[in-house]
Amino acid sequence: MTDPLYAELLDLALEAARRAGELLRDGRPADLGVAATKTSPIDVVTEMDLASEKLITGFLAERRPADGFLGEEGASVVGSSGVRWVIDPVDGTVNYLYGLPSWAVSIAAEKDGETVAGVVAAPMRGETYHAVLGGGAYRNGEPVHCRPAPPLSQALIGTGFAYLSERRAAQAEVLRTLLPRVRDIRRGGSAAIDLCDVACGRLDGYYERGLNAWDMAAGDLIAREAGALTGGRPGEPVSNDLAVAASPDVFATLQPLLEELGAWHD
Ligand code: IPD
Ligand code: CA
Ligand code: CA
Repeated sequence: MTDPLYAELLDLALEAARRAGELLRDGRPADLGVAATKTSPIDVVTEMDLASEKLITGFLAERRPADGFLGEEGASVVGSSGVRWVIDPVDGTVNYLYGLPSWAVSIAAEKDGETVAGVVAAPMRGETYHAVLGGGAYRNGEPVHCRPAPPLSQALIGTGFAYLSERRAAQAEVLRTLLPRVRDIRRGGSAAIDLCDVACGRLDGYYERGLNAWDMAAGDLIAREAGALTGGRPGEPVSNDLAVAASPDVFATLQPLLEELGAWHD
């Protein structure tokens, strides 16, 4: 039976993500522009990223005022309840800016530092993914499972690239060796959706260096609950150094290969 706290956190995350997704889909200005830049000139924030985070944190704080918050656009609150919300108000901002459909709202709830509920809403796909710890993974309420693993040579692998050009050069080097060894590579532009694509069998695996907690917290739980393995460098959990998620047999080959190729450093 699902812990009643996890169920409550899930329901709140689902409703907050639904509202934010609607705001982003229906409220996207035709002349949407860049409001600010972050780590580099191509790491952009739009007014809608800010509006989405405000909506989500406002909704959750009203209902659970003692919780903590970590949001990409600045939310940072130390709570007193042991629950912390980890929020990416728009994952895939560059897609959103250009009118491409692969963007999502990602909301995870941690209890005492462990992710216990995760929601990734992708409105332009008409899909919402969710999971609670120990309860399986779902797309629009239907259970999802990762794909039975092919050999790495037939695996479809997703990845992503940093906004910093020096890091991109190192990422391109890793890809140069990996690409001839796999079926093909996809660069979708939303880490949260990439992780959900592993969860539902649309990708055999995914890896990326340089993710932050808000990019991966919800998707990591959803992928694990769908039967995928996730991790960072061998023996470590997903981290900013490296995040790998894949069907178990693909993971067993992909993670050591990424270690050997140095995918975890610039
Ligand atoms: C980015 C996306 C992208 C990934 C980047 C992330 P943002 O998040 O998830 O797919 O490659 O590393 O920073 O900036 O659109 O929230
Ligand atoms: Ca993100
Ligand atoms: Ca974002």
